[in-house]
Amino acid sequence: MDGNGRWAQRRRRPRMIGHRAGARAVNVCIDFCLRRGIGALTLFAFSSENWGRPEEEVGALMKLFLNALEREVDELHRRGVRVRFIGDRERFAPAIRDRMQAAEALTAANQALDLSIAASYGGRQDIARAARALAVEVAAGRLRPEDIDEAAVAAHVALADLPPPDLFIRTGGDHRVSNFLLWQLAYTELWFTETLWPDLDETLLQRALDDFAQRERRFGLTGEQVAQAGGAA
Ligand code: IPE
Ligand code: MG
Repeated sequence: MDGNGRWAQRRRRPRMIGHRAGARAVNVCIDFCLRRGIGALTLFAFSSENWGRPEEEVGALMKLFLNALEREVDELHRRGVRVRFIGDRERFAPAIRDRMQAAEALTAANQALDLSIAASYGGRQDIARAARALAVEVAAGRLRPEDIDEAAVAAHVALADLPPPDLFIRTGGDHRVSNFLLWQLAYTELWFTETLWPDLDETLLQRALDDFAQRERRFGLTGEQVAQAGGAA
């Protein structure tokens, strides 16, 4: 969700105004997913690197985050959204951690949309954690090193219970993944737009879906193989 700061700067307003507008765009995105029956949405709200921003901005973002948790969770629950947080939540203040946990507990049985908020998240951190969890299993004698394969790692990274993402959308004009779901994105279709996150609307999201629908996903196979499998299905 990139471009909040530039959105505000273009209006000669403080960056925080952009972050607030960005929070509104989150609702646009969630509404779109609910209406279109998209089963899972993961939002990169705050990276493990974002802690390095000026203290004032980090503090204001934390306040915005806490407010959003207080304001939005009941409505999300009412609409059948299951909420979870991925990332290093130990770094957040207790008030935020409590709200995160309460939101997850309240919405755990919901089925309309799996909403994951990546907060204090980094893809490398995610993979390192999975490696550590597997090492603990090995040290305890419950797992042999030779049993560590892709499936074992996949089972220990974030969102292990969901299918890998189909589509990655980055706003704000930069063409990089910036340490988002590194493991999970291996075969995800990447889609980039100059549009700044606060300007996100339904038309843009629909354009991303239309582009996605045109792509041929081969997963390492040949085009002929994919066409055959499609014909057989
Ligand atoms: C993304 O917007 C939001 C967060 C990282 C919290 P930015 O703050 O990165 O916006 P730009 O890139 O400065 O425009
Ligand atoms: Mg940015």
